Amino acid sequence: MSDMSDDSTTDRDAGREEIDTTLAHSARMYDYYLGGKDNYQADRDAAEKMIEATRGGVRFGARQNRAFLLRAVRYLAAQGVTQFLDIGTGIPTSPNTHDAAREVVKDPHVVYVDNDPIVFVHSSALLGAEGRTAALRADLREPATVLEHPRTRDLIDFGKPVGVLFIAVLQFLEDADDPWAHVATYLDAVPSGSHLALTHFTHDFNPVGAAQGGKAYDKASARMSARGRAEVGRFFTGLDLVDPGVVQASRWRPDGPVADVPGGHPWMWAAVGRKP
Ligand SMILES: C[S@@+](CC[C@H](N)C(=O)[O-])C[C@H]1O[C@@H](n2cnc3c(N)ncnc32)[C@H](O)[C@@H]1O
Repeated sequence: MSDMSDDSTTDRDAGREEIDTTLAHSARMYDYYLGGKDNYQADRDAAEKMIEATRGGVRFGARQNRAFLLRAVRYLAAQGVTQFLDIGTGIPTSPNTHDAAREVVKDPHVVYVDNDPIVFVHSSALLGAEGRTAALRADLREPATVLEHPRTRDLIDFGKPVGVLFIAVLQFLEDADDPWAHVATYLDAVPSGSHLALTHFTHDFNPVGAAQGGKAYDKASARMSARGRAEVGRFFTGLDLVDPGVVQASRWRPDGPVADVPGGHPWMWAAVGRKP
């Protein structure tokens, strides 16, 4: 793991050297879905398979997913949460978590965590100027590394509520990784009043399309594990689910009318829960 805060020039350069442009990466595929430019041919080829399998729905789903992230962060900030652990950050996209939080609270603190070297390079360049943000290159399956990192300890006061975000990342853990146990470990580290917000790719609405699309990740940096609503709900065990519960990402407290999904099938479950 490397620290991507503003004094990490050496680590940043090391991250650049590790970038493999011949292997599709989930972060860069997602960047392509969102219309970004930080992707390579291998990413685009794999992403196109997913786009075809979902009849374009994945692009819509990615935008809805980002919109959910921003709504959820604003909601958490309105509940008094001023510090966030954003795990599986992705290549920085504006507005980002700290921008949304800043709309509601004055001085939010955000630790961004991702295990992808390209995210590391971009985050370090973009977030270095933000005094109250840090980006860590770490695997979420090593919670102690994330939770005990000096930058995490510097920015997050574990005596106060924390917003723990797993947005479109837990689908890159297989059941054998026990993503539920990892999420529980992060939640054990934060006090009452903390919140979990997550989204997760699902096969509930179109099992055939999800299976075909999932194959696009078979040779990528991480395989895709779609999950059903009950499995997603399990991440909230012991928490109070915030209304409206586990719903399609676009239908979680929408700001306005909800557009129909291209292809007719939603792909993302979303929910927010509060630690009592
Ligand atoms: C689909 S992107 C989601 C980005 C962002 N959270 C969003 O929803 O807009 C998934 C991100 O999770 C990261 N990721 C995948 N597996 C991870 C792991 N085990 N630990 C940390 N990050 C991981 C990928 O590198 C990628 O940047």
